[in-house]
Amino acid sequence: MKNKPILVISTGAGISAESGITTFRDAGGLWENYPVMQVASAQGFAQNPELVHNFYNKRRKELLKAEPNGAHKALAELEKDFDVYVITQNVDDLHERAGSKNVLHLHGELMKIRSVSNPDYIETLDTDHLETTPATRGRNGDPMRPHIVFFQEPVPNIEKAVEIVMSADIFVVIGTSLAVYPAAGLIEYTRPGIPVFYIDPNPASTAGHPDVTVIRKKATEGMRDLTEILHAYVEKHKK
Ligand code: OAD
Repeated sequence: MKNKPILVISTGAGISAESGITTFRDAGGLWENYPVMQVASAQGFAQNPELVHNFYNKRRKELLKAEPNGAHKALAELEKDFDVYVITQNVDDLHERAGSKNVLHLHGELMKIRSVSNPDYIETLDTDHLETTPATRGRNGDPMRPHIVFFQEPVPNIEKAVEIVMSADIFVVIGTSLAVYPAAGLIEYTRPGIPVFYIDPNPASTAGHPDVTVIRKKATEGMRDLTEILHAYVEKHKK
């Protein structure tokens, strides 16, 4: 049997917006309401860990109330016809909860914490006891930090992500302002000539990439359009 085409999806905060998760740079976004370098940088954590823990605990509570939306679910559905790889800047777990099997997190995972002194020691928070389980100390007694890539820190999964993008037959970007590198640069690694789509109601400039098809819609609506396009692609390549 012929292999399925490889579909690589790069997602940002916009894909989770319709699930009720606040984005970062839209009007009313997180970085308008919180001092970013205090709550999301290595230096900020060193200066005031409590402030940082409180910030991420708030995000965790928001996430526990959220459900995957139609866009997350549509991506999981596409696994029937494609080898789908999701590379996400998001720290939420909505792709996994929607059923996507291959999810690579570039900026960490909200429901995990890791030891300050031993980066290999990672714990998953007990979501049933989030109120009573402090995220500040591990079960082994270690002081812990959010399992988040702070500003000023390298992105450990970027090389893996580049490798995945280079293998793509189709590349799709959804809901990101393309403001944060290295994630924003992944598009540079697509093989020449492959179809590239960008779903976002307020897309960033793609002037450097003339071959990008922009779908100027919210994620759920844009994914309906894209699903039709991709089904046509599958039919065409069957022949
Ligand atoms: P941003 O907040 O920068 O951008 C959100 C994007 O989502 C914008 O382009 C919006 O137009 C778009 N958007 C809003 N509503 C949407 C909807 N319903 N459907 C589709 N798109 C929608 O978020 P990111 O680009 O993900 O890093 O931000 C990148 C990184 O900056 C984050 O991972 C985070 C932040 O600092 C860390 O915390 C490490």
